[in-house]
Amino acid sequence: MIIEPLQKDKHQRVPFTCGKEPLDRFLHEHAYQAVAKNLSKTYVAVDETDETVILGYYTVATCRIEAGEIPEDVAHRLRLPGSDLPGSLVARLAVLERVKGQGVGSLMLMDAMARCARVSNEIGGVAIVVDALEPAVVGFYERFGFTRFEPDSLKLFISMATVQKMLDIETAGRKNPQAAVAVELEASA
Ligand SMILES: CC(C)(COP(=O)(O)OP(=O)(O)OC[C@H]1O[C@@H](n2cnc3c(N)ncnc32)[C@H](O)[C@@H]1OP(=O)(O)O)[C@@H](O)C(=O)NCCC(=O)NCCS
Repeated sequence: MIIEPLQKDKHQRVPFTCGKEPLDRFLHEHAYQAVAKNLSKTYVAVDETDETVILGYYTVATCRIEAGEIPEDVAHRLRLPGSDLPGSLVARLAVLERVKGQGVGSLMLMDAMARCARVSNEIGGVAIVVDALEPAVVGFYERFGFTRFEPDSLKLFISMATVQKMLDIETAGRKNPQAAVAVELEASA
């Protein structure tokens, strides 16, 4: 599977359906315009055998996290100021109905998190925010370390510091499994 920027003349947007009409409509009608206007960027997962077929997509943008939105204990631990804060937003994430449950959503979310971390290293950003479409999806994001802003909120976040540690562990693991354990111990200390 390849994850690459949405390209108007390459990817077939109209046949894509994830079962959630607003997410389908965004890809069919608005995603490319949003890319062209630099409002947000959409990345698509495609299969190597036919790179025109969209297996899934996610949309990312920058966002503002309002003062006090991050729970006090987390803000205190990360020594964040009490002002509005910069962040990255995974605004949409959707998988083609027929390939759901095969790991495409997980791979795309990890790709989005790594992308947001890279960008935050360049321009700043303290957390990644996601909007779960409905309560049933919250659990999907929680598996990756996201937590709700408030107990019943459909809006979740993960600190960029945590994402960076996850990426360090993954990179160290690829190079040297023992180093990965050392990074993991350091991260959990
Ligand atoms: C939610 C969605 C993106 C998940 O993508 P996917 O490719 O089906 O998910 P994966 O195959 O990577 O699943 C990874 C794990 O998360 C679990 N999972 C999948 N959807 C879940 C959900 N809605 N709630 C909780 N867990 C979920 C899977 O059971 C799987 O667990 P396992 O590894 O123990 O088997 C996909 O189902 C989808 O497009 N849904 C419709 C659109 C939507 O709701 N998008 C999210 C809001 S923007």
